[in-house]
Amino acid sequence: MTTERLTTELDDILRAGDIIRRGGLVAFPTETVYGLGANALDAEAVSSVYAAKGRPSDNPMIVHIAEKSELDDLIRGGLESLTEDARRTMDAFWPGPLTIIFPKSDAVPDATTGGLDTVAVRMPSNRAAYMLIAASLRPIAAPSANVSGRPSPTTAEDVLEDMDGRIDAIIMGEQCDVGIESTVLDLTGEVPTILRPGIITKEELTEALGREVVYYKSLLEKPAETADPEDGVADTEFKPKSPGMKYRHYSPKAKVRLIEGSREEFVAKAKELGVEAIRNGLKPAVLDYREDEHAAAHDLFADLREFDRQGYDLILIRTLEESGLGFSVMNRMLKSAGYDIVK
Ligand code: TXA
Ligand code: MG
Repeated sequence: MTTERLTTELDDILRAGDIIRRGGLVAFPTETVYGLGANALDAEAVSSVYAAKGRPSDNPMIVHIAEKSELDDLIRGGLESLTEDARRTMDAFWPGPLTIIFPKSDAVPDATTGGLDTVAVRMPSNRAAYMLIAASLRPIAAPSANVSGRPSPTTAEDVLEDMDGRIDAIIMGEQCDVGIESTVLDLTGEVPTILRPGIITKEELTEALGREVVYYKSLLEKPAETADPEDGVADTEFKPKSPGMKYRHYSPKAKVRLIEGSREEFVAKAKELGVEAIRNGLKPAVLDYREDEHAAAHDLFADLREFDRQGYDLILIRTLEESGLGFSVMNRMLKSAGYDIVK
């Protein structure tokens, strides 16, 4: 199949909307990472997303909407059933990089939610994403547009690297503003729980809700080998154990190692490991975001992919402090390094 290159102009977005309505797959930019979209209410279309990504088909997807009113069909009990917590979070953070988990309605096929009785919903703020959903006249199910296990794509070129020839079309937008995936907040339990950390932090959510928001427990520990192959989040509780699944995700081909410490300590350790690598005939790269967590979020996935293109074998990355956005970026760094930290 030839993957059509589309622009963010209205004509092209309308064309992309047609493709979605006919059951096709379209990659599109969002403010977080590029998504690979299909009609969320069409089980067959959704299944072809799993095939294109090489992703296990029991993995739940995020449903993207353009208007709050679209929630009415997607959640159990419709808009009337929205809790105070849900209203507050939506008012504070939608449109934007926040995904909320709700009890699902019967309109959402099992293929979209991986058989769960909940549905993840997000209203993106990116203009092309918004226009595509509106043009489709359908909610759009979209995982990140990478081959399963690879770093999420933050540029159109990164999407094409993984998906060219496997999908119907791509909307070639700009590089994504945020660079890491949305915060996933579960509002179906007693306590609002963050299943995946993102740019909207625990502190911001706690403030907006006026009550405590917690991290899902596995976010605070090195996950077991049974974690979600995609990003290690949320599935451990619902899924049967699948032995042999490693917790290395967001992985470039190169080996990633994290180094903790001050700038000076990092430079010294990176030099030592770098020299050792060169002696072993390997090509090492060094990455220090100098405590700038926004730059790290924005560039991490793009940098990992760029190092792969340049044929590096070892990537040495300086850690960030694990608070606020730093916690969310460290979550991705740790996974891409398979939890290998040099102290
Ligand atoms: O920023 C993003 O969220 C991007 C853009 C494209 O919107 N999408 C994305 O999708 O990252 P994906 O499929 O790569 O990650 C979806 C995450 C996974 O951690 C999945 O387990 C979780 O959301 N998820 C989806 N539905 C869920 C549900 N019903 N219950 C719990 N977790 C769910
Ligand atoms: Mg993903």
